[in-house]
Amino acid sequence: MKKSYQSLEDNSTKNMKQVIYRKLTSNILHLGFILLLTFSTTLNAQDGDSAKGKTLFNTNCAACHNLDKAMTGPSLRYVETRLSDEQGLDRAWLSDWIRNSAGLVKSGDSYANQIYNEYNGTAMTAFPTLSDQDISDILAYTATDPVVAATPVAAAGSGSGASEGGISNKIILGALALLFALLAMALVLVRQTLNRFAEAKGVELADKKRLPLWKAFAKNQFLVLVTAILFLLASGYYVFGYFMQVGIDQGYQPVQPIHFSHKVHAGDNGIDCKYCHSSARVSKTSGIPSLNVCMNCHKSVYEYNGETTAEHSKEFYDGEIQKLYAAAGWSDADQKYTGDAQPVKWVRIHNLPDFAYFNHSQHVTVAGIQCQTCHGPVEEMEVMYQYSPLTMGWCINCHRETEVNVKDNAYYTKIHEQLSKKYGVDKLTAAQMGGLECGKCHY
Ligand code: HEC
Ligand code: HEC
Ligand code: HEC
Ligand code: HEC
Ligand code: HEC
Ligand code: HEC
Repeated sequence: MKKSYQSLEDNSTKNMKQVIYRKLTSNILHLGFILLLTFSTTLNAQDGDSAKGKTLFNTNCAACHNLDKAMTGPSLRYVETRLSDEQGLDRAWLSDWIRNSAGLVKSGDSYANQIYNEYNGTAMTAFPTLSDQDISDILAYTATDPVVAATPVAAAGSGSGASEGGISNKIILGALALLFALLAMALVLVRQTLNRFAEAKGVELADKKRLPLWKAFAKNQFLVLVTAILFLLASGYYVFGYFMQVGIDQGYQPVQPIHFSHKVHAGDNGIDCKYCHSSARVSKTSGIPSLNVCMNCHKSVYEYNGETTAEHSKEFYDGEIQKLYAAAGWSDADQKYTGDAQPVKWVRIHNLPDFAYFNHSQHVTVAGIQCQTCHGPVEEMEVMYQYSPLTMGWCINCHRETEVNVKDNAYYTKIHEQLSKKYGVDKLTAAQMGGLECGKCHY
């Protein structure tokens, strides 16, 4: 009796609880609905087209404003909410300001004067022709949330692709090793059962008196000879290879003071080699660009938004651009030079000995040879390295093989006629022009 009473009470509290839960959930749903409504109405209130606003912003305002960073003018993300929350200023004030900020300053408007003085009296351009719709489009754009920087994507980039290849190779190798281990185990088991069979049948096994492996090997003179020869050949190959590499720096890839990626510049952004290595065309050397050349672009390229990899994140690249600013003595916050510059000490990679003469303009401009023929796929190099051996044999081979471009060159055409008679050939190689004479490269 007591028991059933208890369970009755339990039931009733359970029911009570259920009712409360149901009420609670419906309340939460209501609240959510109301929130959603207010949210959508605030969104509607702006009724600007942020895509159109972006274009308008980029053409009219981006020269002085950035959404997230103070430049010539203040950063403008959420500017409408900010000004109405902090200063109680409305859309009408903003429209007045954008159409004619100088007028607002002169009228004595207190906030207009405050911000004008904060920016040292830099006058903002007046935009009297912007319509109400234009302004609400621009403000809608400034009210968009920042795009979260994409996390390192496993993009089809060469780097990540290679590591993926590495992993799948490892898996295949692992599987093979496992297979062989299983096979070996199976064989051992088979042998054991056979042995057991033999013992059961009383068969005498010759195998039992077998020599240890190394003794059997030492007794077999043929095997010893073959092994010795193989060993000598292999070590000879490596020693020879080692000595041939002395003084050759092919593949040399030093770490530079600033991580400068040719892939990002010459590859992804298609910047011409000669924009930076401008003297390659006209002089003996190609030269490394001065920091002024870098700053032509990097006054406005202050962050990296390109493709990233696990190894090189956006933060890494941004940090490298900061190093450039430090070296050039550029203060990005103030948008001016501090005068505190330190030259970057780039590590030289390609370097012929002093007794050899090499001239870039002769090869690039006269012979019309692509940079890549000698320097390799530079536009794919995340870090620059020496692609060619730069030995005398390398120079000579190319002079033997490469035909001189005699077209459209009266001087060469004449020489070509004489020389082709002399050698009895149609082709004219750099070698036949004298490209093998010691004095051309040594002085
Ligand atoms: C020539 C540079 C320049 C251009 C172009 C420019 N601005 Fe400005 N803007 C400024 C400066 C400088 C200030 C700071 C106040 C001052 O010194 O006049 C400012 C201030 C502002 C402010 C006040 C921000 C705050 O936080 O108080 C707004 C809003 C604004 N600009 C919007 C715009 C819009 C929208 C455009 C494009 C249609 C634009 N500006 C184009 C230079 C510019
Ligand atoms: C934006 C400027 C810029 C562009 C464009 C550029 N380079 Fe470079 N290059 C540099 C800088 C800076 C260095 C020195 C740092 C380094 O070695 O990575 C350099 C180094 C080199 C070197 C090695 C120099 C040495 O020390 O021996 C070679 C070779 C080279 N660049 C070739 C090229 C080729 C070929 C292209 C076009 C496909 C090219 N560069 C495009 C800026 C540039
Ligand atoms: C013609 C324009 C231009 C010049 C000149 C230029 N850069 Fe860049 N740089 C860019 C662009 C564009 C990016 C990539 C920005 C992005 O993808 O968001 C970039 C990215 C970078 C980065 C980050 C990626 C990386 O390579 O590590 C560094 C650091 C950098 N530049 C340094 C330099 C240096 C040093 C020089 C001068 C030797 C230079 N840049 C010259 C346009 C230029
Ligand atoms: C025929 C082969 C060849 C071609 C083509 C060539 N280079 Fe070179 N480059 C060299 C050699 C060799 C050196 C080393 C020169 C030295 O140490 O005196 C070198 C050195 C350089 C250097 C290091 C600085 C210097 O001037 O010594 C840069 C930068 C460079 N090359 C860029 C370029 C660019 C950019 C192009 C295309 C416009 C180009 N090279 C075309 C062979 C070549
Ligand atoms: C990719 C092929 C190639 C490579 C590599 C190359 N050269 Fe040349 N070189 C040429 C060609 C083609 C000419 C002829 C240019 C012309 O039309 O006058 C030439 C011409 C020359 C000349 C002028 C010869 C003359 O008759 O006046 C010299 C000097 C020279 N090269 C030095 C070198 C040196 C030093 C190296 C190695 C560090 C080298 N070259 C590597 C293709 C090459
Ligand atoms: C096309 C240019 C070129 C011509 C022609 C040339 N050399 Fe060289 N030579 C070189 C270069 C480049 C080196 C430096 C190679 C290195 O650093 O590994 C070199 C290096 C040498 C060396 C030093 C040893 C070595 O291999 O490093 C000797 C000796 C030499 N040359 C002799 C000659 C003689 C003799 C001739 C004429 C038969 C000649 N060279 C013609 C480009 C040339």
